[in-house]
Amino acid sequence: MRWTILSLFPEMFVPLQTSILGRATKAGKLQIEVVNFRDYSTDKHHKVDDNSYSPGAGLVLSCQPIYDCLQAIDPEHKAHRIFMTPAAPILNQKRVIELAQYEHIIILCGHYEGVDQRVIDTCFDEVVSIGEYVLTGGEIPAMVLVDSVSRYVDGVINKASLISESYLDGKLEHPQYTRPRVWQGISVPEVLFSGNHAAIQKWKDEASKAVTEKFTKN
Ligand code: ADE
Repeated sequence: MRWTILSLFPEMFVPLQTSILGRATKAGKLQIEVVNFRDYSTDKHHKVDDNSYSPGAGLVLSCQPIYDCLQAIDPEHKAHRIFMTPAAPILNQKRVIELAQYEHIIILCGHYEGVDQRVIDTCFDEVVSIGEYVLTGGEIPAMVLVDSVSRYVDGVINKASLISESYLDGKLEHPQYTRPRVWQGISVPEVLFSGNHAAIQKWKDEASKAVTEKFTKN
């Protein structure tokens, strides 16, 4: 799967080169490129923003550099294009799995007061928020999107890890334990040593239900 991230701060994306995503990139399962759309500004000082037409609001990213950057990368609009913004539907695991079907996704990271709405309306397919809070820019949200979706790309992680994880069927995963059997006087649940697969499954289901009830709305 190919990702192209449009950002004014390409140096922020080092985390995508490490650990699981770094290995998947080296193995050719992922291609992640970061493009600074300032390089496409036709302004003589490479300006990418201007004052908002809304009185009192700050700077807004202009259409021109973003549009020209998209024309250079994806002239026929073949990629799925996403703008990261808090003013959007919130990402969930269902949408994460659906997005993994695209061959190429372009992400635009916003900054300042936002992006001129005309380039969003005419050039982008989807807007995505990562939660009900506001960050200083779209870079961290873009990394959240790349990480969560890339897990579903073939060969990125062990398939078994995707089978019993949180948020599938709206449920959260049961707790996990490892050695030692007793730590600071706290024992691992006895049933996990029983060898009784039905009893272990029952414990997992009940533990998952308890965490789900504790931490999810509705
Ligand atoms: N940019 C700033 N805050 C954001 C959020 N919550 N989701 C996506 N993009 C953002």
